[in-house]
Parts: sequence; C-alpha cells; structure tokens
Amino acid sequence: MSERREPLLSIKDLRVTFRTRTESVRAVDGVSFDVYPGETLGVVGESGSGKSVTMLSVLRLIPPSTRVVASGQVLFGGKDLLQASKREIRRIRGRHIALIPQDPMTCLDPVLRVGRQVREAIQAHENVAAAEAHRRGVQLLETVGIPEPERHYAQFPHEYSGGMRQRAMIAMGMANAPSLLIADEPTTALDVTIQAQIMDVLRAAQRETRASMVLISHDLGLIAEMADRVVVMYAGHVVESADVQTIFSSPRHPYTLGLIGSLPQTTGNEKWLRPIPGSPPDLADVPSGCPFHPRCFLSRGREICRVTRPELRSLGTGEHRSACHFVAELEGASALPAGELHEGAGR
Ligand SMILES: Nc1ncnc2c1ncn2[C@@H]1O[C@H](COP(=O)(O)OP(=O)(O)OP(=O)(O)O)[C@@H](O)[C@H]1O
Ligand code: SF4
Ligand SMILES: [Mg+2]
Repeated sequence: MSERREPLLSIKDLRVTFRTRTESVRAVDGVSFDVYPGETLGVVGESGSGKSVTMLSVLRLIPPSTRVVASGQVLFGGKDLLQASKREIRRIRGRHIALIPQDPMTCLDPVLRVGRQVREAIQAHENVAAAEAHRRGVQLLETVGIPEPERHYAQFPHEYSGGMRQRAMIAMGMANAPSLLIADEPTTALDVTIQAQIMDVLRAAQRETRASMVLISHDLGLIAEMADRVVVMYAGHVVESADVQTIFSSPRHPYTLGLIGSLPQTTGNEKWLRPIPGSPPDLADVPSGCPFHPRCFLSRGREICRVTRPELRSLGTGEHRSACHFVAELEGASALPAGELHEGAGR
C-alpha cells in the first residue's frame, strides 16, 4: 500500500447531521478517508460511532424521512456523489458500488423469488435477455456456494437460511462486477460457523471482481484477518488510521488501545478483558475538545483535551494518522500482533 495511487473513493470532510425539532445529532462530523483500488478497508468503532451513516451517505441511502443535512465531498471516479442526480446515483448503485447489508431482509423483497431478484440485479444495468440473465443468475448462486442453485433460484427468501440469504445478497452484489463492495457488519446476524464461510465467499467475490471493499465491523478479529488498512471511528470522527499491522502492533490513539485491550485475552488459565470505561457520548451532546476525553486514560484531566479538538495528523510513518494531542506519549505503546487476535476475538 506504500506506492501512491489514485483513490477509487475519496471522502472529504463529510458531515451528516440529523435534525429533529429539539436536537441536532451530529452522526458524522468531518470524516475524511480514501479507499484505494483492490484494497479492503476496515472501519471499526463502537455502536453509534457513525460507521453506517458514513457509508450509507456514499450511496445516498440515508432514509429520506429524516431531516438530514450533509456536506463535504464523496468523490468516486472524479464525481462528487453528494451532488450527483438521483438518476446518476441509481446508475452507480449496484453497477459500480454494491452494498452488502447486515440484515439481507432489508434488501431482499420477501414476495419475490430470489432468482428473479438476482436476474433483475443483472438486468438493471445491462441489456441482457431473460434466458441469459437466468443462466448467469444460477451461475452466480453457484459461485457463492448455494447448493442446487437451479432449485434455490426458484425459491422465496423465507425458504433460505440466514447464511443463504447473505450468500444471495453477495451474488446480487457481484452481479455487475462493481468496483466497490460495502459490507456493513455482513456476518453479525449469523451463527459463528456460518460467519467464517460467508467471509470466505465475500473474499472470493472480491477476488473475482477485483473490487475494493469497505468492511464495517465491530469484530477486530475479523478486521485483522480481512483488512489491508483500518479506519477507527469515535463519535462521528476518524481518530486513527493506518495499515492493519500498524493499527494492531503500534496503535497511537488511546481509543484504539482501548478497543484492542477490551478484546478477551488469555493469560495462563485465566480469561480476562479490560473494557473501556464509560460509554460513547450522546451525539446530540458531544463533549467539548476531544470527544474521547471523559473516557481517556491518557488525558488525566488536562485542559487542552477538554477545550481543543485534536486534528487527525500524520505521524510521519507511512499513512499512520492519529487525532490525539498527546500522541507522542504513546510512543512505544504496543498492543497485540495481529496474528494473536483470532482467539477469543469473536470468531
Ligand atoms: N435515520 C436516522 N435518524 C436519526 N439519527 C440517526 C439515523 N441514523 C443514524 N442515526 C444516529 O447516527 C449515529 C450514528 O449511527 P450509525 O448507524 O452510523 O452508527 P454505527 O457506527 O453504524 O453503529 P452500529 O455499530 O451500532 O451499527 C447514531 O447516534 C444514530 O442514532
Ligand atoms: S486528545 Fe486527550 S482526551 Fe483525546 S485521546 Fe488524546 S489524550 Fe485522550
Ligand atoms: Mg452500523
């Protein structure tokens, strides 16, 4: 990842605020990051940190019923998707960028046979005759490991298991060989044994289409295994980003250290974990200064943490960036080598 390449997707200073009559929820507050061709970018952070809203904004899929104000830029192929017309966005969705959601039932239509939905995904962006679309649809189901694909092609989503529905979503996602896959907690709703199979299918799909992938997950073990680079989010901000090895072996933000430290670990016969104290802030009332300061072990009540928001700055080594006033004090802090993460990390 060291050579400079043009990013496929470039998010610049994205801000997304949900307004109600009484409050403003700043779900995404100045987020910038790039996704390069062919890479897998892991996006991690506790619940409510703005991971989904960031990526749904890329596809302009924030529910229209909410009063939402978005600013910044989302550049894809040189075009700002926040400014694109509805027609352009529809053309990009599915054709160039595909979403694989946490719960496939949010995207699968329960009253239509799966085959028809896969076929329509193929035909939505390409002029393909019905018979050919059918043949390709069955082939896609086979590629994602659905047994007896011809029979399952004719079934309804409720006749599928959770894992099979997720496979069908991946098949639909791959249908037009998009250049970017966005997988939002793609295995959280599934059984642990099925999770690993789905990740294998996703990896194979990515290899076959040579797509980039943004993988949103709470599961640091999964991120360690799948991602090339990692973006850590907290309260609508990016607080650290680096290549995966660096994030796990030399994190340079107290929140990242906390996330890694809160993984279950084993010493001798004992299993222990060290959760981050406190909980993420209410986004309608984010703490002043560094949003992490009420929970931070490093701040120790220092004024600058309470008053001034730290910017995301390059640490001068590769693409490692951290948003902490006292990053120098974390010099030499080490967490776990990525290889040690798999045990007990939720997989
Ligand atoms: N449609 C909406 N209307 C109002 N607030 C919303 C809406 N969607 C999300 N939010 C708020 O935006 C914040 C960020 O939500 P988001 O779904 O991006 O978090 P997340 O990091 O994906 O969390 P999780 O890990 O639980 O999926 C949350 O506080 C959430 O309540
Ligand atoms: S800026 Fe201060 S509060 Fe924020 S992470 Fe760094 S030390 Fe902690
Ligand atoms: Mg989410």
